[in-house]
Amino acid sequence: MSKIFVDACLGKPTPYTPVWMMRQAGRYLPEYMAVREKAGNFLNLCHDPQKAAEVTIQPLDIVGVDAAILFSDILVIPDEMGMDLEFIKGFGPKFHDPIASQEDLDRLIGGKEAADKLTYVYDTIKILREELDNRGDEKALIGFTGAPWTLATYMIEGQGTKTYNVCKKMMYSNPELLHNILAKVTEVVKYYMENQIKAGVDVVQIFDSWASAIEPSKYDEFSWKYMVEIADYLKSKYPHIPIIMFPKGIPAFLDQVYGNFDVFGVDWGTPMELAKEKLGDKYVLQGNMEPCRLYNKEATTECVESLAQIMKDGRHIFNLGHGILPDVPVENAIHFVNECKRVSKR
Ligand code: CP3
Repeated sequence: MSKIFVDACLGKPTPYTPVWMMRQAGRYLPEYMAVREKAGNFLNLCHDPQKAAEVTIQPLDIVGVDAAILFSDILVIPDEMGMDLEFIKGFGPKFHDPIASQEDLDRLIGGKEAADKLTYVYDTIKILREELDNRGDEKALIGFTGAPWTLATYMIEGQGTKTYNVCKKMMYSNPELLHNILAKVTEVVKYYMENQIKAGVDVVQIFDSWASAIEPSKYDEFSWKYMVEIADYLKSKYPHIPIIMFPKGIPAFLDQVYGNFDVFGVDWGTPMELAKEKLGDKYVLQGNMEPCRLYNKEATTECVESLAQIMKDGRHIFNLGHGILPDVPVENAIHFVNECKRVSKR
């Protein structure tokens, strides 16, 4: 039997428009907090396949979404390349030795060797594959990666940043080094995604969460082309696996979007009408409710109805326009999912 979410990614007709939420496995769920508590901390949870699988499944049962997204983090990639990731409470991710030179980059493990170190991710996927198949409810499993650019921002800045000044100094003063970093990460990501597919994911999503930090005329050069390279590699070997691209905050780039992938993730700052007009014939569109509408049920319903109207011809997957925030009431997330199904029943 085919899965409704996978069918929707491939542009096939479905009985309703499927829905999931970015960051759906996380802190707004008390059940997630309980498992994280048992694991000790967030990274331990990522490293524990049984527990990571458990929190991956939670939103399927509690919120009713149509797809599970693997529980992990984009930053496990540079961690396994040798960058020693730490999550500091109240601060976020931290790499203590950011990359500032070619020598720093050369010290990192690359290619298949780095990708093959992420065994706990593949073990989590294998547990999930078996569990989802046994459930028989045809819910899909989404694997993911960060885009090379988004990963590079953390590898160069050493942490989250508001200004991206260290990356951008490199972009304009030493673009060759930045390209070398992006190329090395791209190689690891290709094998990482391939390993996730072999372990059993149905669909993959590439998160370019910090796309908007790049000026539009430079976006292709420093991010999109690397994402397309990853998609080309995966499509050449696994043409049946849908690929979702999510570049956040680049409406000015919509006219230039190209590449062999299936679904374009629309962020909440881009009007869905505009995305449909520019890309709707070529790609299935995913998104794009402003995540803070989840604080209010009427605001949620209003947006879901409007999205359903705009996307009434199909080729759509409901989602938020970025991740759900930790203080959203669970019942509001359930309301969002129920409303998406109500308005799109065919
Ligand atoms: O979507 C899901 O439910 C799957 C799991 C997932 C996490 N991170 C779990 C997580 C996914 C897909 C990610 C991706 C991720 N990680 C991105 C891209 C997606 C996006 O939101 O744009 C980015 C930029 C990161 C890096 C990252 N991870 C940061 C900056 C932080 C700290 C900030 C924060 O939100 O706390 C994390 C931590 C993180 N990743 C948490 C979770 C559930 C919170 C950790 C905790 O439990 O305290």
